[in-house]
Amino acid sequence: MCGIVGIACSEIENIGKMIRRCLERLEYRGYDSAGIAVIRDGSLIVRKGRGKIAELNRRLRFDEIYGRVGIGHTRWATHGKPSDENAHPHTDCRDTIAVVHNGIISNYLELRENLEARGHVFKSETDTEVIAHLVEENFKNVRDLFEAFRRSVEELCGTYAIGLISIYEPSKIFFARMTSPLIIGVGDGMNMIASDIPAVLEYTNRVIVLKDGELGYITPTEIYIEKDGKPVNWRERVRVISWSLDMASKGGYPHFMLKEIHEQPLALSNTLSGIEMENVRNICSLLAKADRIFITGAGTSYHAGLVCDYLLTELAGANVTTFIASEYRKYVNAINDSSVLIAISQSGETIDTLMAVRTFKERGCKVIAVSNVVDSTIPRESDMVIYTRAGPEIGVAATKTFTTQIMVLTILSITLAYMMERLREEEYKYLIRQLQELPSLTEKIIRMHEARCMILARYLKNRTNAFYLGRGLGVPIAMEGALKLKEIAYIHAEAYPAGESKHGPIALVERDFPVFFVVLDDYYVEAIVGNVMEMRARDAYTIALAPRKYVYKFAKLCDYVIDMPNVDYRVAPIPYIIPLQLVAYYTSVMRGLDPDKPRNLAKTVTVE
Ligand code: F6R
Repeated sequence: MCGIVGIACSEIENIGKMIRRCLERLEYRGYDSAGIAVIRDGSLIVRKGRGKIAELNRRLRFDEIYGRVGIGHTRWATHGKPSDENAHPHTDCRDTIAVVHNGIISNYLELRENLEARGHVFKSETDTEVIAHLVEENFKNVRDLFEAFRRSVEELCGTYAIGLISIYEPSKIFFARMTSPLIIGVGDGMNMIASDIPAVLEYTNRVIVLKDGELGYITPTEIYIEKDGKPVNWRERVRVISWSLDMASKGGYPHFMLKEIHEQPLALSNTLSGIEMENVRNICSLLAKADRIFITGAGTSYHAGLVCDYLLTELAGANVTTFIASEYRKYVNAINDSSVLIAISQSGETIDTLMAVRTFKERGCKVIAVSNVVDSTIPRESDMVIYTRAGPEIGVAATKTFTTQIMVLTILSITLAYMMERLREEEYKYLIRQLQELPSLTEKIIRMHEARCMILARYLKNRTNAFYLGRGLGVPIAMEGALKLKEIAYIHAEAYPAGESKHGPIALVERDFPVFFVVLDDYYVEAIVGNVMEMRARDAYTIALAPRKYVYKFAKLCDYVIDMPNVDYRVAPIPYIIPLQLVAYYTSVMRGLDPDKPRNLAKTVTVE
């Protein structure tokens, strides 16, 4: 979490405004506080405070800062509450060095005590501030700023992406990376560092993704990277990014989330056409040999994993275990070199998932990554990778990355089932055709149901709780629907297998309590009808997402029905989540909230 940016330009520019614009593209990584530091006329200008970037810009006038070199930060608080003092950049005792940081310095208390004993005075409660003082201290001894920075980085434990500037070398931005993501944007007459690609797209589409243990500096015309004291040949690592600035802008929509919901037909079709079947077959050969397949991810990616779990188990008869990434320890003694882990992470940087990947790999397990960000850490550290092609997702709540993850995971599952001769060729081809129809089908669903979802949102906006129930593949979709409502509309929502609702949760149901039913599989229709009756008997407000062929049945029973196309249940998770995304979005907006920036959340969670 937290986003950092640094810009080094040849000429004096309106650098405060440039940094502010880059930070706005990183705000999805945290928005508790923000700040900018620029070197001007031999001294540091630092403006920072608690709040979101737009309001801080009005208050602190970032846009009026001119200079050549500067750094910026948008924060998701870990060490120290959100406050003006704890906002980055942090400075040393004499305001000669400013630093921004994403990650956690785990030995900061020890470092801070040592530095305080040497007379350093700290102004914040953050772990980050030790970096500024450490460089100040080392600089006193070596009188070479890069050497002081290098020595300081060696003393740090934990995770970090660091940007540092100093009046002693006013044209340089020093950087270092360990676990937390960091890229260099290679420009003309300017270079940049940033936590993520969308931040630099306005200025350049040429990037270098830094690796763990790399550090160095940029000037407007120079890039220097080293690892283990040896220079790195970065020129061969410059990649041209195909994402455009438009893709990372709202493009006329009031929120990124709504734009990203609407982009799903395109994201699905790009993902489908980008899938290399040879890669899929290689991955499936590995899966076919596995004695146990583990699947992991966090939040929405975990829900995509549950869809894959269901398909691999039912269609391929695989031995599958799916777990929430942060809970990986339980399986440490169950892993061997015949196990395979599928690690799902749209950002490719979620620390919980990364830790699971590293632990499984150390024990000889092969890892397959499913990610939306090319060259991000999890794909890089995995044995094989399959990318979704959703384009940049900026809204904090995952939407198009979820449906595209399910697309690739469904293709993997049905291909494995086919290769293992558990799915006949005609059946396999039929399912592929069903998947190929999803881009146009999802487009139709959005067009037909957006208004109905708004009507439902009007009802939900005044409620405090909701249940989402499903059976079979409807369960992970119910879980994802509940997560969306919870995280952006702040309405307490729980998902259960519909059969389980009787074993406790139903005690909460009273008049007008909203209960969603996800009906996507013929096999479970009668059982779900029974569950609807139970909820009706307690005066719940019942809402069904049901295939057209059962719409009349559910219309007679439920208070509200969203009629879904008659698709095969094995591909239904993709279309079925869309109305639930729209309902959550409109409920959030009608409650006066900002769905792109839900409180306490950040899009990429890089702390454990
Ligand atoms: C929910 C959401 C999060 C992420 C989770 C994992 O809308 O976005 O639950 O799914 O933080 O992120 P990735 O997929 O980047 O590993």
